[in-house]
Amino acid sequence: MDIFNEWPITTTLLLSIFSILVYNILRSNMPSKAKLPPSPPKLPILGNLHQLLGKPRHEALWQLSKQYGPIMQIHIGSKHFLIISSPAMAKQIMKTQDHIFCSRTYLKASEQLTYNFKDIAFSPHSAHWREMRKILVSEFLGPKRAKLSKRVLVTETESMIRALSLHPPNTEVNLSSMLFEIVKQMVCKVAFGTNYRQQPLKGPSLDAMIDEANELLNGSIGDSFPYIGFLIDQFSGWNRRLDDGFRNLDAYIDTIINDHLKDNLEEISEEDKDFVHTLLDMSKENASGYRLTNADLKALVMDVLTGGIDSTVLTLTWLMSEIMKNPRVMQKLQSEIRNCARGIQSVQDMNTTKMTYLKMVVKESLRLHTPAPYLIPHVSLSHTQVSGYDVFPSTIVLINAWGIARDPSVWGENAAEFYPERFENHDGDIGWDRFDMLPFGGGRRSCPAKNTAPANVEFVIANLLYWFDWGPPSGMKSEDLNMENKGIPVLKRKVPLRLVPTKHN
Ligand code: HEM
Repeated sequence: MDIFNEWPITTTLLLSIFSILVYNILRSNMPSKAKLPPSPPKLPILGNLHQLLGKPRHEALWQLSKQYGPIMQIHIGSKHFLIISSPAMAKQIMKTQDHIFCSRTYLKASEQLTYNFKDIAFSPHSAHWREMRKILVSEFLGPKRAKLSKRVLVTETESMIRALSLHPPNTEVNLSSMLFEIVKQMVCKVAFGTNYRQQPLKGPSLDAMIDEANELLNGSIGDSFPYIGFLIDQFSGWNRRLDDGFRNLDAYIDTIINDHLKDNLEEISEEDKDFVHTLLDMSKENASGYRLTNADLKALVMDVLTGGIDSTVLTLTWLMSEIMKNPRVMQKLQSEIRNCARGIQSVQDMNTTKMTYLKMVVKESLRLHTPAPYLIPHVSLSHTQVSGYDVFPSTIVLINAWGIARDPSVWGENAAEFYPERFENHDGDIGWDRFDMLPFGGGRRSCPAKNTAPANVEFVIANLLYWFDWGPPSGMKSEDLNMENKGIPVLKRKVPLRLVPTKHN
């Protein structure tokens, strides 16, 4: 649920009375000499909520920023938001003052779904967060797991290519669901082992549970309105939804862990251990280094499920959509891939190292289709100044990565166009030095998979385009492909991507 878009009238009235109180308390606590960032006029009751209704949050904020500038403040209920809308301001937040803006906000859903903030993505900045992040990087994403990850990537890509080869000629496939399946298999097999339990014993599918968790983690209406927030969420049914969502995922994670507890860890070679085996090792009495609790272990698994799948699927799906819509790019990319990989006999022989145009296409797709439009909100730890404006502790910072990446004043007149060649003269890594595109966020809270995820995307795309030619469904022209998105929390396609594969000789 998006608190800005689903806003029943009755709830609005309830909030009105309460918010006058909160507003007056906040006003009286604000130091009188503070120089605050520009802010659109707000209602004493709901703050700026009314200005954000009716369109996706990132788009509404982008429009307001055109009027109020690249650093702007808004209020929703009791919460203060700092809205950042330029590379220079993003650099202030995620580089110059990264040590101040590196925490996360409290949300009821993140508290419950992360076993009381024992995870990485939603945990406040702390020694615990640092340890958990270190574990994910070294035990799931790092070189130790690289061999298994590569093996699984190859096996899963092979089985997708095989399935496509068996597909009846001239008929469309649902590429969205195929790509979801392959990424889910990759992530789950590295995390839970090659025999992982694909579906829970009962209840909703894993796919449905992940979708639901990601929506819940976007927050509720009650999160912005303390004291009466609980009542609102109770009456709207949101609390029950959260309880159900948590109970289902928790039961699934329990099943995975119980399956692993039956294995004798001593008998499994280091190379054959999956992520959960390693975490169980780290939770033993005699564990060297950080000793994990049961909640830490489950929270890490939760992060892998909610953070590791959707963003990669989304990147693959938008990339295929964009090149389908741009036959010039598709042709150029396909000829690079077929030249570089000429004569390979199998999926595993694909080597993307020299495919420079492919790398540009991946970057361009990540620019136009930044999966998390304003990242995971950052939060300030202490009072500071940004661009001469005072920012107080616990301010929630929304960095409008979606807007920055499409801004003509940053990317030129053709900012809205899918034009990978723009990266021929673009030095610096993706969103790292220049802060003009932020698909992986930035600073110490940036995505820990930012170095590994693009290579996986390149490998899958190179194989899809090497072994097959692609066309739109019959009766449709490439340029008519629907490119609408479903809205936050991550910008998924509104309708599944259906294309027609033709085996290439
Ligand atoms: C193309 C694929 C991916 C994209 C585009 C992506 C994007 C992002 C973004 C935008 C953030 C928020 C950064 C910020 O707040 O500044 C993030 C955080 C995170 N991502 Fe990814 N991600 C991807 C793949 C993955 C994978 C495969 C994992 C593995 C489990 C992962 C785990 C995480 C975690 C744990 C965080 C939280 C980091 C922290 O708060 O310290 N992501 N990701």
